[in-house]
Amino acid sequence: MKAKCSRCLSRARGQRSGLRVGALLLTGVVLFTLWGCGESEGDQEEAGGLKVPDYFPSLRIPEENPWTEPKAELGRGLFYDPRLSGNGTQSCASCHPQEMGFVDDLPRAVGSTGEVHPRRSMTLTNVGWAQSLNWANPLVTTLEQQALTPIFGDHPVELGMAGREEELLERLGAEEWYRDRFFRAFPDDEQPFTVANITSALASFQRTLISANSPYDRFIYHGESDALSESARRGMTLFFSERMECFHCHGGFNFSDSVDHAGQTFSGANFHVNGLYNIDGLGGYPPPNTGVHEVTGRIEDMGRFKAPTLRNVAVRAPYMHDGSVADLNEVIDHYAEGGRTILEGPNAGTGSMNPNKSIFVPGFLITEEERADLIEFLESLTDEEFLRNPALGPPADLPPFEFEEQ
Ligand code: HEC
Ligand code: HEC
Repeated sequence: MKAKCSRCLSRARGQRSGLRVGALLLTGVVLFTLWGCGESEGDQEEAGGLKVPDYFPSLRIPEENPWTEPKAELGRGLFYDPRLSGNGTQSCASCHPQEMGFVDDLPRAVGSTGEVHPRRSMTLTNVGWAQSLNWANPLVTTLEQQALTPIFGDHPVELGMAGREEELLERLGAEEWYRDRFFRAFPDDEQPFTVANITSALASFQRTLISANSPYDRFIYHGESDALSESARRGMTLFFSERMECFHCHGGFNFSDSVDHAGQTFSGANFHVNGLYNIDGLGGYPPPNTGVHEVTGRIEDMGRFKAPTLRNVAVRAPYMHDGSVADLNEVIDHYAEGGRTILEGPNAGTGSMNPNKSIFVPGFLITEEERADLIEFLESLTDEEFLRNPALGPPADLPPFEFEEQ
């Protein structure tokens, strides 16, 4: 047997693995792959061989882009490659670095030309299950569609390849590394170097960004009773309590109600006003960050944002769509007050009085001990294996890129 990682070792101890092992022995075929641990006990296999833990629902993968390992491997190279930026200075990973849960630490993202994005970058933790992509855009529902914006968008400039599709395809086509991999990933295409194939590959890689081995998972799903401290367990009770209400929007396997998966019938994106602003007393948010309203123009969508997953939340400060909340203590102040109060400046207002605010952000009293417990619980959602798994990092043999002005 190959060396097993901790996730698989602990799974092997779980009760669920027995049946699965039996089935595998019966078929006589055990497939080891590079993805995850190279061990399939306790995982369910999606079409194409992507491993998903059996306590997560199946991914909904678009029919036009079935998942395959060669596509994901190509996508991994593209994700880490500065060839994707106009001036060769940035890759997707610049704003989505692995060790912070695939998000950077800037309050607002900065693109390859120095332009500041109105919003903060987002974690890509378990992004394959996101119901809609971006902070507040119900119209972007697939990773394939989303990837076009950072590469080719110019409001704001992120990677800055607008109008330079040919140049991008040439840069990639010049490398043996990519010629090999594009043909392997898209064997039916006579000419696989296309923008659609780039986004298909990026999406396939992003579907492998699966975080499911935090201390919380080990406690709940792997039966490791000592994985959570007493304090984290008390914090968990608070998180799921009707006093704090966190679970209403950050519930379920991914600690977010904005999830989609195979077999789910109702699929309307969920967005909420959590009371971060109330500039005009009518629920106003500072433009252009008006939430779903920015997309629909409907006043009732003012301030509605996606509730991000809280997996790996402790390593990805600062928080909220504009990075305006510095740390987890401030997050708790925000919810305890039932919305944030800003006393002066252009954004002054009493968030707790925001008329559009969700009924699940009522405010609550919290003792110092309870606050520490809640933070310890949020910290127990950090999955060290995910943050350090080399299979999700840059491919070691990716050819370096020397940018030349054309
Ligand atoms: C300049 C920094 C930057 C770069 C480079 C960048 N992103 Fe992002 N990413 C962001 C920001 C900012 C958002 C939030 C956008 C919004 O809501 O308007 C985001 C959001 C996302 C999301 C949505 C996540 C979710 O949970 O909804 C995905 C997926 C994503 N980026 C993937 C990528 C990929 C793939 C690339 C490379 C092709 C990339 N990003 C390059 C900054 C960046
Ligand atoms: C009504 C739904 C709702 C409830 C209840 C709720 N949240 Fe949130 N949460 C959100 C939304 C929406 C955002 C993003 C808001 C924004 O960026 O403007 C968010 C953001 C966060 C963030 C920042 C995440 C990031 O990636 O920046 C944290 C941390 C958080 N919530 C923790 C909690 C905790 C702890 C509780 C319970 C005390 C809670 N939430 C209750 C909807 C909710």
